Amino acid sequence: MKIRNLELAGNVVLAPMAGVTNPPFRRVVQRFGVSAVWTEMISARGLVATGRAGRTMDLRGHSVPTVFQIYGHEPAVMADAARVLEQRGAAAVDLNMGCPARRIVGQGAGAALMKDVPRAGRIVASVRRAVQIPVTVKIRSGWDDGAPTAPGLARVAEQEGADAVVVHARSRSKIHSGPASMSIIAAVRDSVGIPVIGNGGVAGVRDANAMQEATGCDGVMVGRGALGRPWLPAKILGLFPGTGKASGKDITFFDVIREHYMHHMQWEEPSKAVRQMRKHLIWYSKGFTGSVGFRCRIVRLEDPAEVMEAVKEFFGEVTVS
Ligand SMILES: Cc1cc2nc3c(=O)[nH]c(=O)nc-3n(C[C@H](O)[C@H](O)[C@H](O)COP(=O)(O)O)c2cc1C
Repeated sequence: MKIRNLELAGNVVLAPMAGVTNPPFRRVVQRFGVSAVWTEMISARGLVATGRAGRTMDLRGHSVPTVFQIYGHEPAVMADAARVLEQRGAAAVDLNMGCPARRIVGQGAGAALMKDVPRAGRIVASVRRAVQIPVTVKIRSGWDDGAPTAPGLARVAEQEGADAVVVHARSRSKIHSGPASMSIIAAVRDSVGIPVIGNGGVAGVRDANAMQEATGCDGVMVGRGALGRPWLPAKILGLFPGTGKASGKDITFFDVIREHYMHHMQWEEPSKAVRQMRKHLIWYSKGFTGSVGFRCRIVRLEDPAEVMEAVKEFFGEVTVS
């Protein structure tokens, strides 16, 4: 997939997820294979005020393009933030027009832009003028199910210079639940000439293929399907295991978790890493017999070595698939 002048190897990308798609997780996903990764959303105002976007901008160990996502409602501030990100190595900048959180929509940002298309257009135009890198927008199907504004907003975004559009095919009122609407992605695909990346509910290879078939979308974005299964984008790309090893049978959950843990320990202080890794361990253990007991055990552990001992005991030699 090509977004403006950015050529991606393949068309399966990792979704922005606040509190999840930080550098350690992005590295683990890239270990297997993915076409591009999105950062967690970054406040444009905060970035412009401080010149910093926190440590989520750490690109060490990244081998694929990293798209930095910003949120805000002021065209000039969004443009200034995009300039900072371009200087800091962003492969592209993505404009958040889908976040349903009250504190975000309350300021007219995120999904509030789904019902303020003129402002959304001004933001795209302002950011487009500010940077040379590709500019993408991530939208929802609409503010609520009664008003699917996505095709109209996508058209305006394209007219104002957006280079691709990601469609999370659920309305703001659905937050993250319920089936994603394939017809909305198809309608956006029919409305614009730029690449359209479909998003919502891709939990396996079959879902990704079905989305592409039903909608004609150019790419697929994987969100929660990659939690505890960071190899999912690689599987969809047909790269799995993507590590140079002969087969997925060679890689154990323990290997992946150890590596994930190591990235976290390098990125932040051990006590924070242990806390951050707890939620990932819960996701990794999903579907395993005895996962409830495992979760109760690890939430009480503070020493990384003890956690890894519990991981070894629980996952044993089980391989990823
Ligand atoms: C924990 C979490 C955090 C998220 N944070 C963001 C974010 O920062 N920016 C954004 O555009 N979407 C965010 N999303 C939405 C996802 O990018 C994605 O659109 C949504 O989860 C639907 O895809 P899925 O069904 O594959 O999970 C978040 C979702 C989750 C579950």
